[in-house]
Amino acid sequence: MSKEEARFPPCFFLGLYLILITGQAISAATDREVLLQLKDHLEATNPIRRGAYARWNASDSSPCNWPGITCNDADRVTGINLAESNINGEIFPNFHLLPELTHLDLSSNTIGGALPADLNKCSALEHLNLSANVIAGELNLAGLTNLVMLDLTSNRFNGSIRSNFPAICANLVSLYISSNSFSGDVTGCFDQCPKLEYLDLSSNLFDGYIWQGFQKLRELFVSENHLNGELSSSTFASNCALEILDLSTNNFSGTFPGSIANCSKLTSLDLRDNAFMGEVPSGIGSLSELNSLRLGNNAFDRTIPEELLNCSKLVILDFSSHDFGGDIPEIFGRFVTLDHLILYGNQYTGGIESSGILKLPDLTTLNLSKNRFSGTLPVEITTMPKIKILILAYNGFSGSIPPAVGGMARLQLLDLSYNKLTGSILWRSEI
Ligand SMILES: *[C@@H]1O[C@H](CO)[C@@H](O)[C@H](O)[C@H]1NC(C)=O
Ligand SMILES: *[C@@H]1O[C@H](CO)[C@@H](O)[C@H](O)[C@H]1NC(C)=O
Ligand SMILES: *[C@@H]1O[C@H](CO)[C@@H](O)[C@H](O)[C@H]1NC(C)=O
Ligand SMILES: *[C@@H]1O[C@H](CO)[C@@H](O)[C@H](O)[C@H]1NC(C)=O
Ligand SMILES: *[C@@H]1O[C@H](CO)[C@@H](O)[C@H](O)[C@H]1NC(C)=O
Ligand SMILES: *[C@@H]1O[C@H](CO)[C@@H](O)[C@H](O)[C@H]1NC(C)=O
Ligand SMILES: *[C@@H]1O[C@H](CO)[C@@H](O)[C@H](O)[C@H]1NC(C)=O
Repeated sequence: MSKEEARFPPCFFLGLYLILITGQAISAATDREVLLQLKDHLEATNPIRRGAYARWNASDSSPCNWPGITCNDADRVTGINLAESNINGEIFPNFHLLPELTHLDLSSNTIGGALPADLNKCSALEHLNLSANVIAGELNLAGLTNLVMLDLTSNRFNGSIRSNFPAICANLVSLYISSNSFSGDVTGCFDQCPKLEYLDLSSNLFDGYIWQGFQKLRELFVSENHLNGELSSSTFASNCALEILDLSTNNFSGTFPGSIANCSKLTSLDLRDNAFMGEVPSGIGSLSELNSLRLGNNAFDRTIPEELLNCSKLVILDFSSHDFGGDIPEIFGRFVTLDHLILYGNQYTGGIESSGILKLPDLTTLNLSKNRFSGTLPVEITTMPKIKILILAYNGFSGSIPPAVGGMARLQLLDLSYNKLTGSILWRSEI
């Protein structure tokens, strides 16, 4: 007390100060009460297996040392982490009584029901992680205008997300809402999210057209939706910051714009299972960081531009399910950095040896299933330097299996099913 008097000598200041600390003490005490309410709620719905919250001790005057709780300098609760705490039941309805709460993590539990309406009043929230639960119903978080990160991955949310955007956009950097049942048109939804860098909408039922050119986006995943339309050349502007682009398993169509060359940081491009057509853009060849290129199951032309050989970090190349026919083009044998080459479903009849793919020095996975190869198995498969996974199923290979197959030291998976092969494989250990 004497210390405080020394710091605030005039009486009227002291009075004011006491009111302030009393006010603060009441608020901090209220936070403690709310957390004890939360504990009661959790214990009532989880009578047997309980997380660390069971150790929140009502005899403590401050909750700030309780497991999972974070406070600020004024002893106000700012963070609650209840991830992986065996929680069942519905979400605690009163988080909004913690006005300074900025971080809430309820991920990896079995929380169900719908979002409580008052969660929308937690306007200080910056990080909200509800991933890996079974929360259902529509999303109404338009009041969370300070959100930086929202993770709703793997729940049972449904309906449109439109009423939340652009309301929660001003500071939003990361939005992860994959593996739910969200639906509706997302055209233009994120156009007013100026800071958005990470967006994962995969495995929902969204339709519409996703892209109006995000300035800051680094990772975009929209796989497994019903998005459609053509990508215009202006999609990838000169300041493109994309590192990962996954458009797979949608209904995009038209040619793929060569302006992708503007995305010089791109490491992974996945266009599988769409209706893209025409030339594979040669501009991809200038993407010096690209390590994965997946083009399977579209309607691209069969010619791979020579420029793609300039992608000196390319390790995964998937050009499957195009029904090309004829020989495997020799250019595939010149992608010397490849680790995975996936050419299944192309009706190729030959070119396994002449293309040089069996000599690729770093190849560990080769998938040539569902083509129309015939004749005996090329003996060169047994001398592939690093092969681990070799899939030659669904072809017309005949004759006996070369004995040297049994000596392929690194092989982990060999699939020769659905051919006309005879004989047996004697593994080296049996010889
Ligand atoms: C709670 O704290 C009080 C006082 O420090 C202590 O006596 C009691 O054992 C604690 N309870 C539990 C369950 O840890
Ligand atoms: C959300 O929680 C899950 C599971 O605890 C974790 O894997 C994920 O990284 C978290 N999301 C973010 C964006 O931190
Ligand atoms: C969302 O799911 C609930 C059941 O959880 C259902 O009653 C409602 O009609 C669904 N809404 C939409 C838009 O599908
Ligand atoms: C894909 O788009 C075409 C028109 O471009 C349409 O006819 C077709 O039904 C769409 N398919 C799906 C699965 O949405
Ligand atoms: C890069 O983007 C600009 C627009 O900012 C565009 O005019 C140009 O064609 C793009 N570059 C390439 C290589 O496509
Ligand atoms: C690819 O490399 C060759 C030289 O090997 C060069 O002439 C060509 O301009 C490069 N193309 C691209 C698109 O970078
Ligand atoms: C190889 O291709 C088949 C299609 O025939 C596909 O189902 C399978 O998943 C692929 N295997 C590997 C290991 O990539």
